Order: sequence, then C-alpha cells, then structure tokens
Amino acid sequence: MKTASPFLELETGPRVEVSFDGATLSLPEGANLAAALLAAGVGTFRTTPVSGAPRGPFCMMGACFDCLVEIDGVLRQACMIEVAAGMQISRPHVLEASDAPV
Ligand code: FES
Repeated sequence: MKTASPFLELETGPRVEVSFDGATLSLPEGANLAAALLAAGVGTFRTTPVSGAPRGPFCMMGACFDCLVEIDGVLRQACMIEVAAGMQISRPHVLEASDAPV
C-alpha cells in the first residue's frame, strides 16, 4: 500500500540490488529512486555540461532535471522512477551542452 509521501517508505519493505556507477546498492523496492539514492548516500546524480558543477535532486517532481541519471542506457529523471531489481544506473556520460539541461 502506498503512503502519502515516498520518503516514508524508505525503511520498510523488501530491498533489491541495483548498480550505480559500478557499485552495488541495496534499495527499497518500489521506492522513489531519487529519494532512495539520496538515502543511500549518493549526492551527485549528474554534472553540468558546461562547468562540470555537481547536481542532485532539487524539486522531486520532475521539473528541474537535476536528478538525471542513465538507467539501463536511457536518460531518466530519477525522481519520477521507482526502484526495481537489477537497474543499471549511472551518471550521464555523454551530455553535450547543446542537448542537456544546464
Ligand atoms: S528532482 Fe527535479 S526533476 Fe527530478
């Protein structure tokens, strides 16, 4: 059963393994991915293409794109995704200034 806030689910339920930049993380299955990664200690989700400044989740509602990660080869907003077993997650590697949010 879903609760009102995705943050309330982080410490309950089964955990699954995902890969983040080659490291194995155990995250709560079905939790908000951005919240789960933050809770696991991941602070930088991407860097800006121009200055290389670190970015992490800010709005948690799909508006800022600061939570962009590559999931199974596709750029996705982590705050809009639920944790699932076996996800291959990495920081985006090929963002160009012309095709990425700042
Ligand atoms: S945290 Fe802003 S789009 Fe995900």
